[in-house]
Amino acid sequence: MTTRLQGYPSPGDGLRLHLNENTGGCSPRVLEAIRRVQPSDVSTYPQYREAVTACARHFNVDPEWVLLTNGLDEGILMAAIGHIARRRLHDAETIIPLPAFDPYPNATEAVGATAVKVRPEPGYRFQTEAVLQAITPRTRMIFLNTPNNPTGQLIPIEDLIHISTAAPHAVVLIDEAYIEFGGTTFLPELARFPNVLVGRTFSKAYGLAGMRVGIVIGQPQALDPVRAVTLPFNINGVALTALLAALEDEDFLPRYAAQVAESRERLYVACRRLGLEYWESAANFVMVRVGETTPFIEALAARKVHVRDRSKDATTPGCIRITTGMLEHTDAAIEALESVMAGRS
Ligand SMILES: Cc1ncc(COP(=O)(O)O)c(C=O)c1O
Repeated sequence: MTTRLQGYPSPGDGLRLHLNENTGGCSPRVLEAIRRVQPSDVSTYPQYREAVTACARHFNVDPEWVLLTNGLDEGILMAAIGHIARRRLHDAETIIPLPAFDPYPNATEAVGATAVKVRPEPGYRFQTEAVLQAITPRTRMIFLNTPNNPTGQLIPIEDLIHISTAAPHAVVLIDEAYIEFGGTTFLPELARFPNVLVGRTFSKAYGLAGMRVGIVIGQPQALDPVRAVTLPFNINGVALTALLAALEDEDFLPRYAAQVAESRERLYVACRRLGLEYWESAANFVMVRVGETTPFIEALAARKVHVRDRSKDATTPGCIRITTGMLEHTDAAIEALESVMAGRS
């Protein structure tokens, strides 16, 4: 398969447990709303006001603190462009605690900054001390991801506060892409931190990955430079319709989060039974150490279960990441894991 086509190659049919999507799909209300879209909704440029106001209400923040982005991916890149490239900072550094989501180093590289990568602690407990020590006058952005992709580990709120306080000259981007599945949001603290941006996404818990809607929330000091470089019509009108309908379905999220929590427990039990090392996760996935990953992943794929290889990252050797979504999907994944392990012994 060529790697030069846009996007990720599709793994083919079977269970998609490799991108931490919502395995149950989106709320039916989203589809109903999309079916009601009118020709003029498509022929005119999108209006953002209603969606921004609804998000501000949902997250209990000032509408002026809200910037909707084309997935949080776009928010990450725009934050780097707004705070580093736009200011023509040539010696800027970003701090990236490892293991990390790829767009952090990619955005750093895109704006010509230097990524200061901070190695993890044993057991992937968050490396707060090492991050604090990495802060210099050149630090312009610090990427903090809680729960972490791929380990599922949380950063304690006190540590987020400590780091944000220690770097008032930098923008701290707290990526809460998976916070709906566990942990406590930083949002109530945001009023005290003009240098912090909180990133959220509707791709995971809300099941809108195909729509591409994310959100960056922050006080004007941190958000305005990001807003200044974000294209005015960055999200399409159908995606905004989907977002509004998703926010209205208040039962959807807790129901899915409960499935995810039970799925994680079932996967832990299976890993213990199979003698596989794993890390308890606050997100909708679990990282598992399987040893040599390629044959393992291929064997799972042959059983129509697709998982993510994390072994190329030196901080997660021999590891795969498995999305834990609807129980029926997790049970199928466990069955495939058991079958692959039986074949190994
Ligand atoms: C940690 C983290 N942040 C941000 C994102 C971006 O999500 P999206 O661009 O779909 O909103 C992801 C997606 O996988 C992620 O894992």
